[in-house]
Amino acid sequence: MDNIRNFCVIAHIDHGKSTLSDRLLEYTNTISERKMKDQALDSMDLERERGITIKSHAIQLNYPHSDGTTYTFNLIDTPGHVDFSYEVSRSIAACEGALLLVDASQGIQAQTISNLYLALEHDLEIIPVLNKVDMDSALVEESTDEIVDLLGCAPEDVVLASGKTGFGVENILSAIVERVPAPDGDPKAPLTALIFDSVFNPFRGVIAYFRIFNGTLKKGDAVRFVHTENEYVADEIGVLQLDMHPRESLSVGDVGYIITGIKVSKEIKVGDTITHVENPAKSVIQGFEEVKPMVFAGIFPIDNDDFEDLRDSLEKLQLNDASLVYEPESSAALGFGFRCGFLGMLHLEIIQERLSREFDQEVITTVPNVSYFAYTNRAPNDRLIINTPNDLPDPTLLNRVEEPFIQAQIITKPEYIGGIMTLCMDKRGTMTKQVYLTTERVELTFELPLAEIVFDFYDRLKSISRGYASFDYTPLDYRESDLVKMDILLNNDPVDALSALVHREKAEAFGRKICKKLKELLPRQQFKIAIQASIGARVVARETVSALRKDVTAKCYGGDISRKRKLLEKQKKGKKKMRQIGNVEVPQKAFLEVLKLD
Ligand code: GTP
Repeated sequence: MDNIRNFCVIAHIDHGKSTLSDRLLEYTNTISERKMKDQALDSMDLERERGITIKSHAIQLNYPHSDGTTYTFNLIDTPGHVDFSYEVSRSIAACEGALLLVDASQGIQAQTISNLYLALEHDLEIIPVLNKVDMDSALVEESTDEIVDLLGCAPEDVVLASGKTGFGVENILSAIVERVPAPDGDPKAPLTALIFDSVFNPFRGVIAYFRIFNGTLKKGDAVRFVHTENEYVADEIGVLQLDMHPRESLSVGDVGYIITGIKVSKEIKVGDTITHVENPAKSVIQGFEEVKPMVFAGIFPIDNDDFEDLRDSLEKLQLNDASLVYEPESSAALGFGFRCGFLGMLHLEIIQERLSREFDQEVITTVPNVSYFAYTNRAPNDRLIINTPNDLPDPTLLNRVEEPFIQAQIITKPEYIGGIMTLCMDKRGTMTKQVYLTTERVELTFELPLAEIVFDFYDRLKSISRGYASFDYTPLDYRESDLVKMDILLNNDPVDALSALVHREKAEAFGRKICKKLKELLPRQQFKIAIQASIGARVVARETVSALRKDVTAKCYGGDISRKRKLLEKQKKGKKKMRQIGNVEVPQKAFLEVLKLD
């Protein structure tokens, strides 16, 4: 156990985490160069394409140090996106140290800071690494000063490196030995092991990754997962190198995997404690949370006949992604589909993309909304969870609504402060802190409603700052807000799929935008179509599509009967792609288009 070092790498996106991790694996001969694919730790195709690590993994390296001892390193990979921040926090909790990677040409960015706070909360030893020093644009001195200011460390503590050339890798490895504490714990105490990740394997079932804090786990032991209260037999345990390597026993400080024949990923909860059935641990590992979906949206098949196929696909996706939740939902406008819960917008996009790629399912996704709390006058203390606008109680019964807030970290150049403040205020945010990191870079902290940053926040931030702003956020709390349900009506019939919860002050503008867009998208029909946006009985925006006068077949002059028939048939086919709302026919395309709010 004295020879074990458990660590992770935390960095802002694109600061070179994957490249540097590869170098560490190469240098310790964990993978031969021949086997080395670029960024070996990212296994899903999708991950590689997006260049972000979505699912965390762990890998064991053996490092012969100049002191004559060979150390066992467990490198625990952390997902880089805020949607997966709970997984990041559990991976960090499994480590004693962290490499804090900073791109020398970029300096400290928002995600560097938010990850650093997480690591400090868990008392990790931080090794600052200034990466990409090979670049001409590297600002080594300036970036070192920033790191020294941020961490309160000495300039000599900052390790200079380049994942590209391999420069500094040896220094990083020896710094891990010398600075990261060895695990401590009692191998004879009752077993406590933290589950920090799990993966789905179609042949072996669900495999949980864990880190042992106390006790010893042997193959064949009867184990209990404390929070799920399930008991299993440890059919196979082992360590993770590039493949799984079975072991007879694992003990304090070890990072490994366990296979118990679990088939459904929902049975394993990240953050749970593993202990023995006999002589169980008296206390669990702190910090367990049920992961809660933050963003909800309806997903409907384009063709109603594909509903069952969609259900099958979602079921299969959930086998290996326990954070996806869904339940059947029916919409007058879109037919039968599912209300799905996601960890965030990126997660939503990933699921949409996987449905299309892996299952060949093209779907309509309704306007995403966050999860709200509502209270009624009848029971003002009973919290109702509102995951779809249509669940909001009638305004006459409604006591209050609360919405989730986040704390946002933005790092930018001073000349953009004004623009960014205007943006955040427009998004109903308040600034709580402003700190100059250097004369050229400033860190701004805002509190904002999650619903406001879910949509076009990041794009607007990037354009206001010409790309010179980095952004990250962490969930804060729920706060009371003046939210109203906005309905869209076509000739007085509400289109349920277009209802949305919006802040009262923004309702009118939002309603006008949707009505205007719908007017462009709805084909003219034999009668006039009134498009209205309303809050309760009050109409806040209105547009009209005027009636079509000419007979569609008129242009055939009644002469060519076969042409006339063809035209009618074409129309009939077109109708299949229409949804009927009251007496109005809405093309499928209109739903897709109107939901693309820009
Ligand atoms: P995410 O997983 O998306 O957060 O990215 P990452 O932090 O893993 O970064 P990645 O290793 O994918 O590197 C990002 C980009 O920087 C790639 O284009 C790399 O080729 C480049 N890069 C990484 N390390 C170095 C380095 O030391 N020097 C130079 N010049 N480029 C580097």
